Amino acid sequence: MALVYMGDMLNHAYRNQYAVGGFDLVNLEFLDAILQAGERCRSPLILSLAESHFEYFDFEIAMAATERAARRASIPVAIHLDHGSSLESAIRAINLGCSGVMVDASEEPFEENIARTHEVVQMAHGCGVPVEGELGYVAGVEGEDAEKHPGEVRYTSPGEAREYADRTGVDCLAVSVGTVHGRMRSQPNLDFDRLAKINEALQLPLVIHGGTGLSDESFRRLITNGVAKINYYTALNDAAGARIRANAENDPKGGYTSMVKGVRSAMAEEVKRCMELWGSAGKADAVLAEGRPWRPVEHTIIYNVSGVDDRQVEAMMARGREVLAKIPGVRRVFTGWAVNDNTQYRFCWLVQFAHENVIETYRNDPEHVAFANEYFRPIAGDRISVDYVGIGYDITEVGRARGQYG
Ligand code: 13P
Repeated sequence: MALVYMGDMLNHAYRNQYAVGGFDLVNLEFLDAILQAGERCRSPLILSLAESHFEYFDFEIAMAATERAARRASIPVAIHLDHGSSLESAIRAINLGCSGVMVDASEEPFEENIARTHEVVQMAHGCGVPVEGELGYVAGVEGEDAEKHPGEVRYTSPGEAREYADRTGVDCLAVSVGTVHGRMRSQPNLDFDRLAKINEALQLPLVIHGGTGLSDESFRRLITNGVAKINYYTALNDAAGARIRANAENDPKGGYTSMVKGVRSAMAEEVKRCMELWGSAGKADAVLAEGRPWRPVEHTIIYNVSGVDDRQVEAMMARGREVLAKIPGVRRVFTGWAVNDNTQYRFCWLVQFAHENVIETYRNDPEHVAFANEYFRPIAGDRISVDYVGIGYDITEVGRARGQYG
């Protein structure tokens, strides 16, 4: 069982004083490299997709590959939206398969940050999905020189952090204690006293953004003071860039596949180094034993209709697919009719929910209630409805038998 509840993964790390990497990926090479490293050192990991990177890939397509790869892994994995900007992007991420979301309203004033984060927490918890908030501001841009976009670092205040956590209900908190996103020329001056106070006040897993370039000693001190998730990207991007430049020098006429030779192993080496340094290496089995599996629920309805013809049923189904797919936590809406005419129930809905919590959210959702009362129930009195949780849903056997990883 590879996909696990991200909250359980982070709580395990927090209690046992190690940190899980939230590695941002921008293509299949990153995805493969991160998972390869995780499998090699038996580490839990978070596959992170940052909204600011959506210009480099199609989020929907990338999520399909990410989820498939995660379900095939033998180590515990969570899939996370990094730096989500709005409620809408958090809903989209969950419906596409993210099992954790970050809402980043850190540039907003305190009250506005709380209001926007709280709104996302309400929605996400209704889908069983944990939320990372950010308080204080970590400057810089992932993948670039940190000095290029210094912005203004705003440190997290321990007092505000407590209030923020209470009023938003976040499951983990990204803090600003002196790190910056991107490539750094020198070591930043980290405020460990502040971090210790935040940790004492919060007793929640803390998150560090801008992991690239920090010293081994800094990482150790961050983790001792409550950091359970470290976001990491620029160093992987740079490792890939260095390998591509070397390939280009060796083979000036080489095409794309020559250029990317060795890129995955270069990134995997860096990910492995982090996992060993941050203490997550070797923790996979403990997290698998304790963490709840992240598995979908199939909301299944089989039914017969009365008083309408097949064309009207088709129109009702089309409307349902459009309306219901937008509800938070709905992964897929399948409508169909029986292949054989002499079946007891001719029609079906298979609505896949991200998590068991969605059963209730969906039941009470006003769009669902309106659709069901106006379009569906009046013609489908004869029906059976059952929610099934996925068992044996992961695809580990196939992946492991083929020996893709490890
Ligand atoms: P770096 O690119 O500095 O490693 O930071 C990554 C990050 O914080 C993503 O959210």
